[in-house]
Amino acid sequence: MPLSKADMDSLVRRAQAARVNSYSPYSGFAVGAAILADSGVVYEGTNCESASFGATVCAERAALTAAITAGERSFVALAVAAGDKPVMPCGICRQLLAEFGDMTILCAAGQGDYYKTAALSALLPDAFIEF
Ligand code: THU
Repeated sequence: MPLSKADMDSLVRRAQAARVNSYSPYSGFAVGAAILADSGVVYEGTNCESASFGATVCAERAALTAAITAGERSFVALAVAAGDKPVMPCGICRQLLAEFGDMTILCAAGQGDYYKTAALSALLPDAFIEF
């Protein structure tokens, strides 16, 4: 489905809203994400930290796995929101998102209307996707 400016604005607001339930007692860095499936449905995620730091799950992967659990397999865009300036998806999240093809990534701060956009394929060129 095509991605309008209104769709993007709305997806960023959903990502910002998803930060509210962040479980981030170690970093204090609340991250929200929202992913728009081809079906038109939006799924939210937030980061969930662990005392064993490596077990932490990022907001983007939480949103993606919520969508996958609902049966979605094709995506238009993902928004991520945190902090005082636009946050970029980490490398692990880029890799997992790339599993499902290219999509638009919207990067926002925790609050405010500003965001920047990039193609996932530009953030992770030559991704490893098959073996
Ligand atoms: N985090 C995310 O949720 N997404 C990212 O793309 C980068 C980092 C989370 C993980 C951890 O809970 C906190 O931000 C600090 O790294």
